[in-house]
Amino acid sequence: MKAHTISELVHCLHADIKTTDLFEGIWPIPQGVSLNAYLVRGGPGGKTALIDLFKDWSGAAGQFEEALASVGSGFDQVDYLILNHLEPDHTGWLGEFRRRNPRAKIISTAKGINLIKTFYKEDDGLRAVKDGDKLDLGGLELTFFETPNIHWPETMVTWEPSSGTLFSCDAFGSFGALGDRVFDDEFSGAEHALFEKECLRYYANIISSFSTFVERGMAKLSGLDIRRVAPSHGMVWRKNPKTIMDRYRTYASYSRPALEGAEPSGEREIAVIWGSMYGNTRRGLDAVIRGIEAGGAPYSVHQVPNEDVSYVLADAFKSRGLVLAMPTYEYAMFPPMAYVLDIFRRKHIFHKTALRVGSWGWVGGARKEYEAAIEALQWESVPSMEWAGAPTAEECRVLEDRGRELARIVRA
Ligand code: FEO
Repeated sequence: MKAHTISELVHCLHADIKTTDLFEGIWPIPQGVSLNAYLVRGGPGGKTALIDLFKDWSGAAGQFEEALASVGSGFDQVDYLILNHLEPDHTGWLGEFRRRNPRAKIISTAKGINLIKTFYKEDDGLRAVKDGDKLDLGGLELTFFETPNIHWPETMVTWEPSSGTLFSCDAFGSFGALGDRVFDDEFSGAEHALFEKECLRYYANIISSFSTFVERGMAKLSGLDIRRVAPSHGMVWRKNPKTIMDRYRTYASYSRPALEGAEPSGEREIAVIWGSMYGNTRRGLDAVIRGIEAGGAPYSVHQVPNEDVSYVLADAFKSRGLVLAMPTYEYAMFPPMAYVLDIFRRKHIFHKTALRVGSWGWVGGARKEYEAAIEALQWESVPSMEWAGAPTAEECRVLEDRGRELARIVRA
């Protein structure tokens, strides 16, 4: 991989990770993911900074080494290693970096410095920075802004004003490997459409719990003339940086309650999530879907546990309406749906309008567990509907009405 030129003194290095491993040990990445770092050099006689590192995953170290060599540099020539965020996808190679370069100063926030000590047992050459601190590289100056909880509490971003580049680490990132291009203007419309899906899934999986902090961080940075957004996952935005910032602003709104007099957040869509043991819940769900279609609301359908919760989360996160269709299983919810609801709580899938339907065999029980589970989610409900065994024609008529009612609410 070659380095990509952002400006005369700023280069993007990246490694494409293509693996069957799960991101964070949870989330599938069949389209891969990129790990980006940035080499920033002062003018003649100036210093060199490397912004963010990587985990040696899927040959990342070799890819970075090659990229550094393509601009006549190497890890041993780095004067400052700036760690915006300590999660090991960006820092896992720190021990080896230190072995190759014992002299570089390592810069992070005070909380980041603590994490360097706990994760990597490194104590030497560490420098803590805080909001507004600057680093002079000789002809080029970097400024640091603390942006806690995008994604971990120690996170900061780095700003380079001459090129207007914001090095944002996880913020404004996406799943998806990049290949031999990194800039937004190098990808086709079809490729952007795929990356947009992967961006939503990345946000829903990784960032959604921290949406309040995303809004706070974006407000803090709003005075900067950001002409390039350079995250540590996904493409570098040099033509339309506003696209990715607007996208994140929209995503951050999805978990928010509707402001007084304003329309609810989320897209006017319904995410249908269902599991069925012997087809009786699915029969009732078919009636609900007929109602949704009659009501004219767009919808997505996800079967659990067949489909990974990563994808379920993405569509549920963006949709105003949800259908949860599940049978009672041993006096309680169908277990894969209980897992989905637990993940929803953890990832702040809040303020939705939901319809729950499902079949029971010898006795109910899903309802009680469901109602307890959604208490924390602050959902509005279209009245639930349960039935014994297979749904009757009359029950299907009611289910269809409930689907139509949910579509009406979502479209309003
Ligand atoms: Fe890409 Fe939170 O690390």
